[in-house]
Amino acid sequence: MGMKKQKLIIGNWKMNPENMKVAKQIFQKIKTKAGKFKKAKCVICPPFIYLDAFAKAHGTCAIGAQDAFWEESGARTGEISASMISKLNVPYVILGHSERRELGDTNEIVNKKVIEALRQRLMVIVCVGEKTRDEEGSYLQFLQAEIEESLAKIPARYFKNIIVAYEPIWAIGEKAKKSSTPEDFLEKAIFIRKVLTQLTDKKIAMKIPILYGGSVNDANAAGFLQEGRADGLLIGRASRDPQIFGEILKTAHNV
Ligand code: PGA
Repeated sequence: MGMKKQKLIIGNWKMNPENMKVAKQIFQKIKTKAGKFKKAKCVICPPFIYLDAFAKAHGTCAIGAQDAFWEESGARTGEISASMISKLNVPYVILGHSERRELGDTNEIVNKKVIEALRQRLMVIVCVGEKTRDEEGSYLQFLQAEIEESLAKIPARYFKNIIVAYEPIWAIGEKAKKSSTPEDFLEKAIFIRKVLTQLTDKKIAMKIPILYGGSVNDANAAGFLQEGRADGLLIGRASRDPQIFGEILKTAHNV
């Protein structure tokens, strides 16, 4: 057997915490945990205004942004470009998160952002996932189109810098009525890899990490990583609690 791939444990802090001081305190504690559980790859994605400070003190955790615009510079009030992020030595970026899609990011917009971020040599975490399930399974067609359109026109050589996060919207955040299951994730991951194979080729598609996201915590992480065979996890709420996030890193270190 070859060497096991490092599990990617990515924390998406969203619009938290309230100030730099608290952000640095949480980050420091997470770095200490990540230092103990090195077989997991820790990535923290804080709000833009904390990025520079975090990038300069990244230590045992890699840093990522939560979005990036598709042009390098210009008259785009409020936007941050992939090139700016790359120049801060921030290696990762989340694109197409459902909360950004809800604010207007279409597949076409996500695709433009993905292409530019890859051009700027960023590692791109592309989020996909359906709002609801239906008995007929038409949500699978939605998922397929979301992947195909978000990852359209991408040169084959860039696929090594793509990570896909499957986050069923019904399982994300405070409002989530239920979380997904490892069995369901495993099924969806196989489906997603089939779609990725059609977009590139089997050899490339097999290497693309597919992560699970949506109400991950210290109690369910092991299931998604083991039975679910997830290549990693994208974590919202639990990534701001160093104790819980530390437990998840430990689990990922030990699988
Ligand atoms: P959650 O968020 O872990 O708080 O459900 C996940 C996400 O939105 O990436």
